[in-house]
Amino acid sequence: MSWWRPWADRIEPDAPIGALTWYRIGGRARWLVHPRDAEDLSRLWRCVREEGLPLRVLGRGANVLVRDEGFDGVVVRLDAPGFTGVTMEGQRVRAGGGADLMRLCRTCAERGLSGIEGLAAIPASIGGAVRMNAGGRFGQFGDVVGRATLLTVEGEIREVEKTDIGFGYRTWGWDRAIVLSAEIELVADDPLRVRGRFKEHWRMKRATQPVGERSAGCVFKNPPRESAGRLIDSAGLKGASSGGARVSDRHANFIVASDGALAADVLRLADHVRRTVRDRFGTELEMEMEVW
Ligand code: EPU
Repeated sequence: MSWWRPWADRIEPDAPIGALTWYRIGGRARWLVHPRDAEDLSRLWRCVREEGLPLRVLGRGANVLVRDEGFDGVVVRLDAPGFTGVTMEGQRVRAGGGADLMRLCRTCAERGLSGIEGLAAIPASIGGAVRMNAGGRFGQFGDVVGRATLLTVEGEIREVEKTDIGFGYRTWGWDRAIVLSAEIELVADDPLRVRGRFKEHWRMKRATQPVGERSAGCVFKNPPRESAGRLIDSAGLKGASSGGARVSDRHANFIVASDGALAADVLRLADHVRRTVRDRFGTELEMEMEVW
């Protein structure tokens, strides 16, 4: 029997996942699965592991570049109602791993719940935001996460407290575990003020980043006490291009794609940027964008 039969009504073979990313670049996944709920995902995880196939979770696709040759494994989307629910109890919010961060930020702002309005402009699923400890100048998601329920790489469902999540700069301590849900702790504030800050963060983002263009956000992590964008800019790389990929003129840590761009163009340009910055400033940039 083929391993995927129990998921036959919610699996897509040879799925064009590149098109599901913000870059809209890249190839197909051998399988794309939409599990129903945590139990279903846990069964899938065990099965896929026995088959020895790699598995990735695709959130909003805003930090992922899929290679042109595609991903030879199983990609999971947590888009069933079992993963996208949000419940609010006072200042505590529980959100499924597949829930949308931007929508949650908006809802909280409207209800006068403060703590995540600084993340308003970050496209991410809740699970992606936990794994990446998504953030920027106005804080990071880990600051407000109280606990999270995970499917560990051993296939166990575990509730993990904030201090054991191991948040760092754009990272956490659980490698390839899957976030099933997260509990977020907010504080009450005047809805007008929260909404005001929410809007201000959007305004700043539009003023400094290539919003609306195809990208994966910042390509590189900031080195300690430095800004990758400033280094790339100082190296004169704004506007540098490779095929259909170009270093943004608005923010040098973004590589934007035009029609016909290939994942290989983005990767070649990222490599050129990394080498130029290393030669010029002796700083080794580490990639923030995930390449599948
Ligand atoms: N700068 C330049 N040239 C550029 C870009 C930036 O000189 O082309 C300078 C700016 O003028 C500023 C400094 O570099 O003095 C820092 O720039 P910015 O405020 O834009 O912040 P950043 O460190 O480049 C970080 C996050 C962003 C997040 C912003 C705003 C990282 C790698 N980037 O950018 O996150 O949106 O703060 O909060 O941590 C992402 O992770 O995908 C991302 C876009």
